[in-house]
Amino acid sequence: MLDKLERLPADPILGLAAAARADTHPSKVDLTVGIYMDEQGVCPVFEAVKKAQAVLAEEEITKAYMPPAGDADFNNGMQRLLFGAAHPALAGGRVSSVQAPGGCGALRIGAEIVNAANPGARVWVSDPTWPVHIPLLGSVGLEFKSYRYYDPETHGVNFDAMVEDLKNATADDVVLFHGCCHNPCGADLTLEQWGVIADMAEQQGFLPFVDIAYQGLGDGLDQDAAGLRLLAERVPEMIVAASCSKNMGLYRERTGATVFVAKNQDSAEALVSQALVAARRVYSMPPSHGALIAGRILSDESLDKLWRTELVEMCGRINGLRKAIREKLEVSTGRDFAFIEKEKGMFSFLGLSAEQAVRLREEYSVYLLNSSRINIAGVNDNNIDHFATSVAAVL
Ligand code: LMR
Repeated sequence: MLDKLERLPADPILGLAAAARADTHPSKVDLTVGIYMDEQGVCPVFEAVKKAQAVLAEEEITKAYMPPAGDADFNNGMQRLLFGAAHPALAGGRVSSVQAPGGCGALRIGAEIVNAANPGARVWVSDPTWPVHIPLLGSVGLEFKSYRYYDPETHGVNFDAMVEDLKNATADDVVLFHGCCHNPCGADLTLEQWGVIADMAEQQGFLPFVDIAYQGLGDGLDQDAAGLRLLAERVPEMIVAASCSKNMGLYRERTGATVFVAKNQDSAEALVSQALVAARRVYSMPPSHGALIAGRILSDESLDKLWRTELVEMCGRINGLRKAIREKLEVSTGRDFAFIEKEKGMFSFLGLSAEQAVRLREEYSVYLLNSSRINIAGVNDNNIDHFATSVAAVL
């Protein structure tokens, strides 16, 4: 039975990360998967995480299953982090959440809920979007339509086109947004534009589904959630998929949350009951380690402060790298790369063709995706010159 299954191609992101790891070129540059790397090219463990983990190792007395909805400190902490403690939706008891295995698990649970409410619902996704969105959400049976988003000419959001396309979204549809630090393009909506989206959601009745995997890596924790908070003030219902992979560096611990904003408390509780049944069908209950760490950080004043300080430093380094990359590329190529400095978070498109991206990998050991998406945080003082001269060579 099983031998008729063919070998499938490697994942477009993880496969290139593996190829980069296997490359023995002394000045190879890995700009593939979205992982924060420090000056030494290492993805570091936050000090706050180490401290929380040490306490956990001392105090943990059982490895019995987690409660199906996950750790309460984690869920409450994530709700405060996303919306701000004083948000009216929280005060009104309209917010509920379940812990999920990473941002992907959170998206999948959100998709299950959408499909339960409206089987085969149409989800509008930005063009471009993270390549895993469609297979991940589509695996429960949802359908997709894309809305125009990134304009390669201006290296920014084509908001007029986005609005024009989303005018066709109906009350039966879901619209998927990147909460901040758009993956793959790094071009975000302004708060004013979020306001227009909120108007449209109110008038047309579509359900916003916000994927926020990079909160704190753009302009700061509160600034990055401003669009999501505004939406949650205006729309009756929405779903949020959140992750601690990037902002707490808990990648391998698979720490995420599906968060619901519902019409009322009763509906918020019903959505959790639905999410638990959906999770039981797939993985039963969430993993504990990452969420216990994150929950402890978010509920302990001094750990929370330490974590926020470390995150600000990380974000500052990414923004510093954006400036350095812009400067180096402008010198090496003689072209304008100002957009790199304006974009947010870990990713930007360089604006190269797929052929040029392949040449960068094959001839210069500079690994980026075929779309020319680079992970800004893969650049450091040691590899920036090789990166910039290689880009100039293929241009
Ligand atoms: C990325 O886009 O590189 C990250 O979100 C990691 C992943 O799972 O693809």
